[in-house]
Amino acid sequence: MLTVRAPATSANLGSGFDVFGVALERPADVVRVEKAAETTITVTGAGSQYIPEDPRKNTVGAVAEALEAPAHIRIDKGIRPASGLGSSAASAAAAAVGLNELYDRGYTREELVPIAAEGEAVVSGAAHSDNVAPSILGGFTIARHDGVTSVDADIPLVACLPEIVVSTRDARRVVPDGARMEQVVETVGNAATLAVGMARDDPDLVGRGMHDSVVTPARAELIDGYGNVHASAVEAGATGVTISGAGPTVIAACHEGDRGAVASAMLDSFERSGVEARAFKTRIGRGAEMF
Ligand code: HSE
Repeated sequence: MLTVRAPATSANLGSGFDVFGVALERPADVVRVEKAAETTITVTGAGSQYIPEDPRKNTVGAVAEALEAPAHIRIDKGIRPASGLGSSAASAAAAAVGLNELYDRGYTREELVPIAAEGEAVVSGAAHSDNVAPSILGGFTIARHDGVTSVDADIPLVACLPEIVVSTRDARRVVPDGARMEQVVETVGNAATLAVGMARDDPDLVGRGMHDSVVTPARAELIDGYGNVHASAVEAGATGVTISGAGPTVIAACHEGDRGAVASAMLDSFERSGVEARAFKTRIGRGAEMF
């Protein structure tokens, strides 16, 4: 039997829609895999009552099939589904890493990314890699259609998860069909700034590069209180604030010393909008780890 801890992740980071992602130091899913004649899945932990245990409907079932690696798979969720923190991706990433080792399949971590992304497609309808890539590889990742680039980065973050459910399918329906050329130019500038900020561990550059005027404004409508939470975080010292993945988590980059104040400001602001929330004081972390 093998145990794998795969971290929550934050995709998009504003300007990197469907491309950028970061692994978070916490929270994480823990997945145990054991060889079996047929795949079975049990799920416990955060939001487990909403996650199907039928292997044909669960992300990890698709991963087990893709790797031809039937197993008893036990998932302990540290990450609630429909949170914007890559919940299904973390389970898929952990299963891919664990089953690859259990059955000695010999795939590299980079090669496991598209396999885990197929699992993601089961729940979100689209096989994008911007959550599975950082959950498997760690650090900051750039997922393109032809592969993934990753780099270690150390940026303090606050992930504030309100008690609102936004499904990825719904959040993808509001994504605009296109962008004006001036928005494309702005987005390239912001995304490039963010990438340089990651390489330099510079929270100011990362925060500045998180701005996005294409997808984020449309999705903000799905998150009660988003505008106020954004403003409160910036006032408390956040260098950049955006929606994590498809939401509803709101993620802020900041300097280490401001993280407590940013977390409190975001929680208070959600509370003033009548929305209960919890805040994870976290940072960019490592990818899936095996025990
Ligand atoms: N890039 C994806 C999106 C991540 O924003 O829809 C969510 O799974």
